[in-house]
Amino acid sequence: MDNNKNWIDQRFPLTKVWNEHLAEYYTPRNFNFWYFFGSLAILVLVIQLITGIFLTMHFKPEAGLAFDSVEYIMRDVDWGWLIRYMHSTGASAFFVVVYLHMYRALIYGSYKAPRELIWIIGMVIYIALMAEAFMGYVLPWGQMSYWGAQVIISLFGSVPVIGPDLLVWILGDYAVGDAALNRFFSLHVIAMPLILVVLVFLHIVALHTVGSNNPDGIEIKKNKDKNGIPKDGIPFHPYYSVKDIVGVVVFLMIFSAVIFFAPALNGYFLEHANFVEANPLKTPEHIAPLWYLTPFYSVLRAIPPMFGSQFPGVLAMFAALLIFFALPWLDRSKVKSIRYRSLPYKIALGIFVVSFVWLGYLGMQPVTPMNAFLARVFTATYFGFFILMPWFTSIGQTKPVPERLTGV
Ligand code: HEM
Repeated sequence: MDNNKNWIDQRFPLTKVWNEHLAEYYTPRNFNFWYFFGSLAILVLVIQLITGIFLTMHFKPEAGLAFDSVEYIMRDVDWGWLIRYMHSTGASAFFVVVYLHMYRALIYGSYKAPRELIWIIGMVIYIALMAEAFMGYVLPWGQMSYWGAQVIISLFGSVPVIGPDLLVWILGDYAVGDAALNRFFSLHVIAMPLILVVLVFLHIVALHTVGSNNPDGIEIKKNKDKNGIPKDGIPFHPYYSVKDIVGVVVFLMIFSAVIFFAPALNGYFLEHANFVEANPLKTPEHIAPLWYLTPFYSVLRAIPPMFGSQFPGVLAMFAALLIFFALPWLDRSKVKSIRYRSLPYKIALGIFVVSFVWLGYLGMQPVTPMNAFLARVFTATYFGFFILMPWFTSIGQTKPVPERLTGV
């Protein structure tokens, strides 16, 4: 055994990497359940990659065949239904996990210095994930695949001057069709997964450079013993490698329950219209993206067209997404964790969460005067959270932050 270790170590830094990133990687000892979601995101990524490989073996990226090839996977391929439902449920599970992971960063101020780059890489992952999910949803070539693509891609046509040419360039044709399906397949199956894996690697490299934040928002590296080990740190392995298994088991129980008992989750994970093959001559009554994109879809619809152009809405939608990048610099508070934050911050965060959830809900509903009004109000409060952040994070009384971690 020792000989083998030496043999490998002389040629590859196995023990060094193992120690630096696992056995001697010191992590705050007070992680709570919010810290499960990073490792769960890795798990879902792996599930998506593996099920995706098997789906690709049977899927036909051709407009005349795609829908039937998915039906073939569901009915004739051994275990095909399971692989397909794991992948479609996996897409939604990915966003559930990532939204909770991001919310954790908000409540514990994990985006603040020195973790700005972890946050920025995370945001790039989030955007890449949205693009990946959107393109994946087009592939089964159902009614919602087709019309969803039609709505979203036509947004690019609203860009002043270059819009119409841009649209043709993206589609490779004058309408959504075989060319679009083919390139979305290529991007969904090869380009984006590669990008995602590289980004996740960089995310972890950045994380391991500065170390994890924690529910107290205290830097454990500021309190080291005489051996240079953080007093409040415990080795990641075995403590958290084992603890994370608890998260994995609970996650897999919920994940399996959805796959086996409600894979379409009443239209939330797979929309009803997508069980009907794409028909360019028949618009579905009500076109909406899947739940994880709807907050931004709501912002898009909340802004009225100007001079007949949807471009202002498109700008607002992208602004709603990109403004997250600025978070580390908009937050002026001296403390990180919600435990020690001032009341104005807590109120603002509460309003933001309510706005985000409402925007998500409204994005799934048809536009009525009342819904349009609410979408505008929540769009305003959504942006208000970011724009007013430098102000509400510098007023109010924060609680004193202890020297050492609290709790267990
Ligand atoms: C494929 C998606 C992602 C994967 C696999 C992933 C993975 C991880 C892992 C394993 C950790 C360490 C464990 C933990 O703190 O939970 C982590 C931490 C972190 N992630 Fe992600 N992440 C993803 C997406 C994101 C996104 C979208 C954001 C934000 C926009 C983000 C922001 C952060 C931050 C700020 C931390 C440090 C948290 C702390 O130390 O308190 N991540 N990520």
